[in-house]
Amino acid sequence: MRGSLILGFADYREPAQRLAAAAGMDYAEVQVHRFPDGESRLQLPAKLPEQVILCRSLDQPNSKLVELELAAVTARELGARHLTLVAPYLCYMRQDTAFHPGEAVSQRIVGQWLARLVDAVITVDPHLHRTPHLRDAVPVHRALSLSAGPLLGQWLEGRPAAPLLLGPDSESAPWVKSIARLAGLDYGVASKVRLGDREVRVTLPDLEVAGRDVVLVDDIASTGRTLAAAATQVLAKGACKVDVLVTHALFAGDALEILQAAGVGEVLSTDSVRHASNRVELAPLLAGALKTVAETD
Ligand code: R5P
Repeated sequence: MRGSLILGFADYREPAQRLAAAAGMDYAEVQVHRFPDGESRLQLPAKLPEQVILCRSLDQPNSKLVELELAAVTARELGARHLTLVAPYLCYMRQDTAFHPGEAVSQRIVGQWLARLVDAVITVDPHLHRTPHLRDAVPVHRALSLSAGPLLGQWLEGRPAAPLLLGPDSESAPWVKSIARLAGLDYGVASKVRLGDREVRVTLPDLEVAGRDVVLVDDIASTGRTLAAAATQVLAKGACKVDVLVTHALFAGDALEILQAAGVGEVLSTDSVRHASNRVELAPLLAGALKTVAETD
């Protein structure tokens, strides 16, 4: 795709560079200076092609969203006519309704705001539990929601003993089902009640786990409490081992320690969010989606 440029940011440099290589595009970086008071000053290449792809994952999102607005507006001033956002992790998708009176519906507000900035959005496994299509949340001209399921399924195929896949809550059902189907594995889905940011109650499905290797599958690991609660119960019921497979490794605070304390063995994730557990690179998947956007716009 000649005449297109991927504009990355230092905090997501290597995955964005891998994407540029996979898509056959040039890569340049937005220079970000953080002033002592927390404001950001951005500098883009002084001249830009018509097609610009902003590539940054939106974990730890608040300052990144402001910087995205500064970058997108400036990119248009510098000559970009078509802007695509590649955000392998798309933030604020979980708050899709006002769960309590007066709450902001962040999914809709952030989605509409992104849609005013860019012409196309590409993301991976967005948390759209009650929202049928990405475009309903982010009403851009082209909204591509990709699944890491096939890549995660490939990792499972290499394991010596066929594991039982377990989704820790009903919202994980689409991921666990599709990965189980692709890898030809048994699966179950637990149910969860969330009592607070760091407090959940998980109830296992009626499945025999004794003597099995179990892999917990979810889209997002944030505090790790959901996965830890599921792991504790599965091991108490006699599972041989419990590993974890997630698309988005947010792993806030002490999440990894909590998982280890719960008896979790291996933790594996995609590089949608940079983390020591990253094993699956999304660049080929994202490059294919960029090609689709280029061909249809
Ligand atoms: C929500 O339902 C998601 O699928 C995850 O289960 C959730 O975000 C995990 O959160 P935590 O790691 O904080 O328990």
